[in-house]
Amino acid sequence: MCGIVGYIGHREAYPIIMKGLKRLEYRGYDSAGIALFDGKDIKLSKTKGKVEDLEKKIAEEISTQGSLGIGHTRWATHGVPNDVNSHPHYSNSGNLVIIHNGIIENYEPLKQELESRGYVFTSDTDTEVLVNLIEEIKNNEDIKLGKAVQIALNQVVGAYAIAVFDRTKPNEIVVARLGSPLAIGIGEDEFFIASDASPFIEYTNNAIYLKDEEMAVVRVNRGVSIRKIHDDSIVNPYIQELQLHLEQIEKGGYDHFMLKEINEQPHAIRDSFRGRLLSNQAIIKMSGVEDNMKKFLNADRILIVACGTSWHAGLVAEYIFEDMARIPVEVEYASEFRYRNPVITEDDIVIAISQSGETADTLAAIKLAKSRGAFVFGVCNVVGSSIARETDAGAYTHAGPEIGVASTKAFTTQISVLSMMALRLARAKGTITSSEFRQYLYELESIPDKIEVALESDAIVKQIAEVYKDAKNFLYLGRGYNFPVALEGALKLKEISYIHAEGYPAAEMKHGPIALIDEHMPTVVIATRKGHYEKIVSNIQEIKSRKGYIIAIVTKGDVSVKELADHAIEIPETFDCFSPLLTTIPLQLLSYHIAVMLGKNVDQPRNLAKSVTVE
Ligand code: AGP
Ligand code: GLU
Repeated sequence: MCGIVGYIGHREAYPIIMKGLKRLEYRGYDSAGIALFDGKDIKLSKTKGKVEDLEKKIAEEISTQGSLGIGHTRWATHGVPNDVNSHPHYSNSGNLVIIHNGIIENYEPLKQELESRGYVFTSDTDTEVLVNLIEEIKNNEDIKLGKAVQIALNQVVGAYAIAVFDRTKPNEIVVARLGSPLAIGIGEDEFFIASDASPFIEYTNNAIYLKDEEMAVVRVNRGVSIRKIHDDSIVNPYIQELQLHLEQIEKGGYDHFMLKEINEQPHAIRDSFRGRLLSNQAIIKMSGVEDNMKKFLNADRILIVACGTSWHAGLVAEYIFEDMARIPVEVEYASEFRYRNPVITEDDIVIAISQSGETADTLAAIKLAKSRGAFVFGVCNVVGSSIARETDAGAYTHAGPEIGVASTKAFTTQISVLSMMALRLARAKGTITSSEFRQYLYELESIPDKIEVALESDAIVKQIAEVYKDAKNFLYLGRGYNFPVALEGALKLKEISYIHAEGYPAAEMKHGPIALIDEHMPTVVIATRKGHYEKIVSNIQEIKSRKGYIIAIVTKGDVSVKELADHAIEIPETFDCFSPLLTTIPLQLLSYHIAVMLGKNVDQPRNLAKSVTVE
């Protein structure tokens, strides 16, 4: 769960690493640190806080020369965020220095063993145990750093992406991965190391993504040599050409990445449709589905596994798959699924949804499903991510990099891709007619334009945010397709404004939450015309008669709900099944504006990290 960056080559490492840390800060941001080798010695500076705090500290503390260095932005798992626990960590001799993303689960016994041999630990981290274990092995066996890292990692249980170098042999960085991502950018006699490619895209288009259980020794004049950690077999490097562009990872004039990403949704969804949704020809073309059509058509059921916002997209998909393709669907939190003993058969299809493609629980759920013989299909955003590689087939969402921790365009592109899948399968199964299919395609294709209209609600949403920003609690209600949107709206508000919010199916309100309603509890109700409209109107009346305030998301031209609600936000009309793609827009904007008004850090909310690569 953190960002790691490294550089070895002929340029000054510091500016590259510092810029890289800023780009990776979305991954973790409770502390940061850098270690540079200046030709003679290691210069190390680290601090609790943000990368900008580190930058200030470095200016006062160390010189920044050197063409070898590593940097880290932390999301603490072992030991509170403070200066000492920040990375990089030295080994006891001061020769080795390491950065680590992940968890060493068996660090306690390893630590005791090392302590019994005289090692002293200054931090509470599992990482410091690992660097000393490497040192102990290296010294005992008088072997090279790469070999020592390999032996140490064979004794370790857990997840990691690491980069380590040795002061006494400063022409190489040793890296390894198991469970956490690690990319190596290949330049001319220079190499970049990072958790994703964003820190080095202006320097090179060529990268190697290490696979799980692989390690690499990266040397200035001798390139990258990769081995399997467990059996020492040599791996031929596969150099991938990057599709990422610099402007995609910059804010482009917006105050926050989240706002940029909210506004990018029309474009992102068009990208997810490109080459797949061909309405004029009445075709949906998705190779991952096409190539496995038999499996999909014969499946007893579809199991969807995901976490957080991706789980909400899974809930929307459940409605649409069942509604259109008449395939039974169950949606599970990946974290629960992986630890129970689920009944999975070879006739099940598991769909794993993940923006980052790195979420540890989702990855573990996939492995479990595969081990029981299920066919696993991935819906991921990050190309080449662990989940994308681990699944049997899949479809990328093509949303482009999502940097804001609160997921926005990932959600709507996931729903777009899953809607295309459901429609394709429905057509293949004959559960919808060809003319219905055509209508659905045209409507789905029009969604990006309609989102552009929904985004025009920004001004009114901002006014509403001003009125309710000091509320302590919010309720979000929706029915049918918009129940998951209510959950997602509540999650967005919680994540970035720290206001407590609950999402409920509107009809469930009378079974409990209605007791909470009073003049201090604003309720956001999704009340579009096509989705159980009359029932929702009754729910709104129940709230009004208990003095609750209503913010309603309504279809353009609505009359009844507008009369009842204290505030109404209009969105364009669409089919009920596609309405989540529109109703979610004002909810994203509402949470964004409230968080900004409350002075919260929208892109990097406290305690959260963009990709949760730990359990
Ligand atoms: C959403 O706003 C979140 N920050 C979080 O719930 C996220 O959706 C979840 O961690 C799953 O991530 P993934 O899609 O990258 O697997
Ligand atoms: N487990 C390590 C720590 O707590 C690394 C955490 C991370 O991935 O940031 O320091």
